[in-house]
Amino acid sequence: MNAQEQLFAELDKYKNLEIKQQPQWPDKSALEKVQRELAAQPPLVFAGEADQLRTQLADVAQGKAFLLQGGDCAETFADATADKIRDRVKTLLQMALVLTYGASTPVVKVGRMAGQFAKPRSSNTETRGEVTLPAYRGDLVNGYDFTPESRAADVSRLLQGYHVSASTLNLIRAFTQGGFADLRAVHEWNRGFADNPANARYRELTEEIDRAVRFMAACGADFSELTRTDFFTAHEALLLDYERPLTRVDSRTGKLYDTAAHFLWIGERTRDLDGAHVHYLSQVANPIGLKVGPTATVDDVLRLVDKLDPERQPGRLTLITRMGAGKIREVLPNILKGVKKEGIEPVWVTDPMHGNGITTSTGYKTRRFDDVMNEVEGFFEAHREAGTVPGGVHVELTGDDVTECLGGAENIDEATLETRYESLCDPRLNHMQSLELAFQVAELLKAEH
Ligand code: PEP
Ligand code: CO
Repeated sequence: MNAQEQLFAELDKYKNLEIKQQPQWPDKSALEKVQRELAAQPPLVFAGEADQLRTQLADVAQGKAFLLQGGDCAETFADATADKIRDRVKTLLQMALVLTYGASTPVVKVGRMAGQFAKPRSSNTETRGEVTLPAYRGDLVNGYDFTPESRAADVSRLLQGYHVSASTLNLIRAFTQGGFADLRAVHEWNRGFADNPANARYRELTEEIDRAVRFMAACGADFSELTRTDFFTAHEALLLDYERPLTRVDSRTGKLYDTAAHFLWIGERTRDLDGAHVHYLSQVANPIGLKVGPTATVDDVLRLVDKLDPERQPGRLTLITRMGAGKIREVLPNILKGVKKEGIEPVWVTDPMHGNGITTSTGYKTRRFDDVMNEVEGFFEAHREAGTVPGGVHVELTGDDVTECLGGAENIDEATLETRYESLCDPRLNHMQSLELAFQVAELLKAEH
């Protein structure tokens, strides 16, 4: 075996491990055919870009930068339109600006975008009335419509997912490199969004930035650095049948990279130490994330860190805690202290969404904005107590004015949820709630410095 074959042989040991949360593909040979087609496609991202992100995350781990990670719970093929992609990118850029300016900290921007198409589910099936069908596992696997045809796992979706990711990424690159993200046009980013208090606050901030930029221009400053911004992509590496054909050896470093995204993470439900997902991501050189929920012990976390980042490479591993507002103050400090005691310095990020789900009496899955903020505050408190670095936030959001999460300045109530509830999976912060969160996080971050 040559060196490349050895890398793939080691990677492929995942096939002999338990692979949780996978669909039942009806036809094995059809799957293999699609995987061969995927393997012949160009990579979506380059290894060098993933390395750059890892370098930036190393700064985050030390408190020299802050990570903003956000996007849909589940992207859909239908919503990969120019307008919706632009608005999600705009919302993330605006949040990043609020954080950068408010806390004088560089912000590393990572979208849950261009590949966030596969979802873990609490049940393999869904029952409505008398009818039971396979659960919706994300557009990469099956359709959301509740019919047997739509819910059957369809391998052609893997190829479609690749192409939708490619066109999404192409637009993201155009927006962030082609002049749209120019800091001299920050006030433009608000155009098209409904007028509301968070936007008004944003407008004040951009006026200040504008003045500063004009002052610098008058002094003869060079603005080439301000015309574009780095923007990275991320998704949960759940569907290994998709990740595998896109995992390639980088000719420069001779290492394996999952080229489906810059950053991949392991979900709370698939983080078994001896499971396929942990093994898989242990073998690729991308920066990776691990969700850590309230049942995790210090020992669990230490063993996972040993497996996923044995060399303790700066920026390699991001631990995304999602404890719930009611538990974070009780559970997180111990984990932080236990990890710190071993001399480990991961990137610590809060996901204040997934531990705070509730269902209304009318049957909507939702989250309260106040619970989300409460968990973020608990995250900062826990890090202060443990003497560790609160490195970033990971949120589910959209650029649209949806009504999926309760509260915020518009005070969305239970009755309002039904007016514009569009998520096929978890409820997302809307544009205004996202900006509000950014303003509040900026305050918390400023207090750290
Ligand atoms: C998610 O990020 O959408 C998700 C399923 O999260 P978790 O793995 O933390 O439950
Ligand atoms: Co989710």
